[in-house]
Amino acid sequence: MSGNVRPESMKRINTPELAEAFINEQVEAVREQVGDKKVLLALSGGVDSSVVAALLIRAIGKQLTCVHVNHGLLRKGEPEQVIRVFRDQMDANLIYVDAVDRFLDKLAGVSDPEEKRKIIGKEFIDVFAEEAKKLDGIEFLAQGTIYPDILESDGVKAHHNVGGLPEDLDFELVEPVKLLYKDEVRVVGKALGLPDNMVYRQPFPGPGLGVRCVGAITRDRLESLREADAIVREEIGKLDETPWQYFAVIPDMQSTGIKDGKRYMGWAVVIRAINTVDAVTAESVVLPWETLRTIRDRVIAEVPGVNRVLWDMSDKPVSTIEWE
Ligand code: XMP
Repeated sequence: MSGNVRPESMKRINTPELAEAFINEQVEAVREQVGDKKVLLALSGGVDSSVVAALLIRAIGKQLTCVHVNHGLLRKGEPEQVIRVFRDQMDANLIYVDAVDRFLDKLAGVSDPEEKRKIIGKEFIDVFAEEAKKLDGIEFLAQGTIYPDILESDGVKAHHNVGGLPEDLDFELVEPVKLLYKDEVRVVGKALGLPDNMVYRQPFPGPGLGVRCVGAITRDRLESLREADAIVREEIGKLDETPWQYFAVIPDMQSTGIKDGKRYMGWAVVIRAINTVDAVTAESVVLPWETLRTIRDRVIAEVPGVNRVLWDMSDKPVSTIEWE
């Protein structure tokens, strides 16, 4: 798709038929741009990169290589789902990179949030560039850029997104969804056959659980966060109307618990659920007591090391959505 301005005549893609038409058009455009050359894509499992992957698989099949970097900060089940959907079901060329130790070793002892973000961003680019250099004949780099990324180059996402690729990886970009809004990307993803929990995924920061395991990340606290987060998402996900974003946080502090008459120190899990239009302001969602109680009971029973469950009822401003 050429140009970075959405033509006024472009229809809002909000039906399966319009999505199909868009897909057909982009399949042709990508084939024309790429010819018989190879394309590389960093596939995080998020909506945008997943939709680009599915679209390119349809357009050019094995000419696309997807690289999925597991940095250890993904949510429960995410890497497995990327492999299942793209390698097993869509027969993609998928390179899975287990970089968990590499990231967690670099992050050990680092408590400053911006420093953590920088390390995660830089390490991600290094791992991806290393994988790219191992491959022969790649000439194109696909990206899940969407229209708000272009419009809001000074906005929240740009502020959070880190770095670019090293200059020696000089690829031409393939950005098939760059003129689409998020809701349109989801309609296209659905038409491409991606599962609902991928297409309707809530926003998830690039540094992932890294900014929700507050302070210096330790492996045991991170594992407990991953488990607690899965419970929080499962239980809140059962509500008829789900909030815009909901997740768990583990602060870097300990609190006293009591078991079999003995006191011991453990962690506290924080439940965060917010509604927002644009993530610039946000309102804490009033959750039913039933849901809160089930989360409390399950977290205490199922998550190692946790002896307290808290509910973050703060609005933005002044409290940001993420804790770091
Ligand atoms: P805050 O915490 O600034 O978050 O109120 C606003 C929105 O941005 C997401 N967020 C991030 N996204 N990289 C991202 O790609 C990041 O480092 C990052 N930090 C926050 C956050 O989840 C919320 O939706």
